[in-house]
Amino acid sequence: MDNSLPPLTLSADNMRALATQVSELIVEHFTSLPQLPVTRPATMSGLNQGLGEPLPTQPTPVPQLFSQLKTHVFDHMTHLDHPRNFAFVPGPSNFVSAMADAIAASLNVFSGGFLGPSGVAQIELTTVEWLRELFHFPAEAGGLFVSGGSMANMTGLAVARHVMLANNTTNAAVYFSDQTHSSVAKGLRILGFQQFQIRKLPSDKRFRLCLDTLRQRIAADRLQGMVPFCVVANAGTTNTGAVDPLLDLHHFCKAEGLWLHVDGAYGGSAVISEQGRKVLEGIELADSLGIDPHKWLFQPYEIGCVLIRNREHLKDTFKVSAEYLKILEQNSEQVNFCDYGVQLTRGFRALKMWLSLKAFGVEAFRDAITIGIRNAEHIEYMLRADPCWDIVTPAQLGIITFRFVAEGMDENALNTLNDRLAREIILSGYALLSPTILNGKHVLRMCTINPRTTPEDLQYTVQLLKKFGESFPVSVQ
Ligand SMILES: Cc1ncc(COP(=O)(O)O)c(C=O)c1O
Repeated sequence: MDNSLPPLTLSADNMRALATQVSELIVEHFTSLPQLPVTRPATMSGLNQGLGEPLPTQPTPVPQLFSQLKTHVFDHMTHLDHPRNFAFVPGPSNFVSAMADAIAASLNVFSGGFLGPSGVAQIELTTVEWLRELFHFPAEAGGLFVSGGSMANMTGLAVARHVMLANNTTNAAVYFSDQTHSSVAKGLRILGFQQFQIRKLPSDKRFRLCLDTLRQRIAADRLQGMVPFCVVANAGTTNTGAVDPLLDLHHFCKAEGLWLHVDGAYGGSAVISEQGRKVLEGIELADSLGIDPHKWLFQPYEIGCVLIRNREHLKDTFKVSAEYLKILEQNSEQVNFCDYGVQLTRGFRALKMWLSLKAFGVEAFRDAITIGIRNAEHIEYMLRADPCWDIVTPAQLGIITFRFVAEGMDENALNTLNDRLAREIILSGYALLSPTILNGKHVLRMCTINPRTTPEDLQYTVQLLKKFGESFPVSVQ
């Protein structure tokens, strides 16, 4: 470190040297990822030894720090962007957007409010407008970028609460299926709803919200003095990729005077592909929609987006004036995103979405999404050819669930065996799968949305699972 410089400052040469080291690390990550294990867990004691240190009082040369990070952090990461990560919802990401994040952080761009017309604001307006168009929302719709799907859902629900209830939540009730992501219940809790106001309804055989059940429950609740105000529908559940009957739900909500929020955090982005558009018919009719570009729009973490059918509702819900922010209001044409959501200080998330859409063009996104949908269909095809597999839910929006089955095993044994297969493949480091539970059945689940996954990755993962399945004697299973 150079003592002639102010604190926390590097010379230009030192900055260049560090930037070169960082860019080498990033390029190495992107190029070597397919050859790395998807996960290589560390031990708690090893991590503690390597990283559990006292507060540093003296400077350490950065190359030494990089080596510490490599040994104890980077070499033991679970790579959600790995082509053989099929667990949870993968985050395939892309290099151009990673560079955009580096620029946004380096220039420390503030995207909360603007002292006059600003290119930063315009990039977000333009990019949200592109998403509005891709999701077939009407011209008067608008939105903003948030941290992820959870925040997008909560923002949509906050708008629903404001518009439908004028924020008086007494006896208000909200409805969704038992397959709905936990972020919805969490968001509602944060927004002040209590358990008795949250109606988690049993889903149908295909894990979709059942309109008849919904209708009956709402009618019964009204008789009891409850105030139904919102239905949350899924545009692709996390468990199985199931899509609730969006068009029917829209008509129902309209007739009943209810707000329709759609959680499209997992599957919504598929609407830009031809196949996805058919499956997601009606998504464009939502009053609010949560989407998650850091999943199936291939952005690095963190970026979610909320679209609101009437963009004025966002400002009505969130704008709070303060004397020290008055200067931001001088230009009435200027959009200040702090008035449209929870955050005042917010980073330039829009840049990565904008840069990657411009650099690759939307057709590349379409192709990448189509690959993800087809990958799951390809797995289904392979599984159907072998009687050791039972398909629990077919390929839907890039997700398939299935079980290894063997003669003479009861449900308990099958559950234990399939949990074990997921553990074994994780330990192998070759691929990552997260099992789930559907109607009491423990099932394997693959989410195949990474466009860099090869047919060989899919084939060998299925072969490996079979090998593990066959290697456990029935008595042990
Ligand atoms: C359907 C669905 N909704 C919401 C979320 C939450 O999104 P995030 O993790 O970006 O907050 C997820 C995450 O996987 C999801 O699959």
